[in-house]
Amino acid sequence: MTQELILNQRVVLASRPQGAPTPENFRLEREALPDLQDGQVQLRTLYLSLDPYMRGRMSDAPSYAAPVEIDAVMEGGAVSVVEQSRNPAFKEGDLVVGQTGWQTHSISDGSNLLMAPKDLPSPSMAVGVLGMPGITGYMGLMDIGKPKAGETLVVAAASGAVGSVVGQVAKLNGLRVVGVAGGEDKCRYVVDELGFDACIDHRSEDFAEQLKAAVPDGIDIYFELVGGKVLESVIPLLNERARVPLCGLIAHYNAQSEPEGPNRLPLLMRTLLTKRAKIQGFIVYEEYYDRLDEFMQAMIPLVKDGKVKFREDVVEGLENAPDAFIGLLDGKNFGKLVVKVS
Ligand SMILES: NC(=O)c1ccc[n+]([C@@H]2O[C@H](COP(=O)([O-])OP(=O)(O)OC[C@H]3O[C@@H](n4cnc5c(N)ncnc54)[C@H](OP(=O)(O)O)[C@@H]3O)[C@@H](O)[C@H]2O)c1
Repeated sequence: MTQELILNQRVVLASRPQGAPTPENFRLEREALPDLQDGQVQLRTLYLSLDPYMRGRMSDAPSYAAPVEIDAVMEGGAVSVVEQSRNPAFKEGDLVVGQTGWQTHSISDGSNLLMAPKDLPSPSMAVGVLGMPGITGYMGLMDIGKPKAGETLVVAAASGAVGSVVGQVAKLNGLRVVGVAGGEDKCRYVVDELGFDACIDHRSEDFAEQLKAAVPDGIDIYFELVGGKVLESVIPLLNERARVPLCGLIAHYNAQSEPEGPNRLPLLMRTLLTKRAKIQGFIVYEEYYDRLDEFMQAMIPLVKDGKVKFREDVVEGLENAPDAFIGLLDGKNFGKLVVKVS
């Protein structure tokens, strides 16, 4: 019996960016999906997650993960529906999460697929607050940040996928939480909707002074997502025994050379030494995916009860993924960025 021909639309890496990615670095293609073999499942992508780490995969500079090859489909996590199954672990209609890439369809042997949490109001949550960004924020905060009531936490990209989880969970643990975000609208949302104690616009000229005023007792936890100017302003405010979960450095992802200006490395090292502070990098897939159940047990009730809120920035159509991704690196998204693929 011959199978119905299915055309897969996919975005491939056409060339490696020099600095910020451009639309020319991507190419939209169509190809016939191969026939399904025993043990495989055929998936239709519902929501593709766009995440800052993808900038690293576009580059062939040494990193913790291999780059996407030229002409290969862009790497990305997505939530998909099983359309056909020749694997006993999956049945038609199951919702699954996996690194299936920037494409409308994919075929998998099931080994890297996880079942999406049941009964979600939107499947997109499985790649957001209840997916990779959620577990990143939650586990990085609880495991490395070790929050204690009464302490002060600062997190930038505060309206975004990871930062919004970090700040809200820290509030629930009794901390004073100061967010940093780009622009008035995002800052208003972070305070009024997410319940942070304050939020500072990193584009303000007197950002460092405003941040200092917002943390009268200093900073006990700085959840690092951005680097750049925010980190520079945070260093002098760190308290003794401060913890810095080092999660991301988005301000530098498009950089082609070291930043101009004074070298802050001696100040950072002196601060870590004299304050006996701790900075610890982590990659969520390596460190925390074996604790997914622990995360789900904690986070699902918080989301259901509205104690952890989230916002999604939904872009329609796979063909719009490159522009949306380029915007993500420049703060144009407002909330977790996903592409509604089908
Ligand atoms: N280590 C891990 O395993 C892991 C896992 C997930 C994510 N991450 C990292 O976590 C960070 C946040 O990721 P996300 O998915 O939650 O993204 P996101 O916050 O939803 O979106 C990225 C945000 O970064 C902010 N930003 C961009 N350039 C900036 C700059 N120069 N200075 C300050 N803020 C800037 C922008 O927000 P504003 O407009 O508010 O500035 C932008 O909206 C990224 O660095 C990412 O690589 C790491």
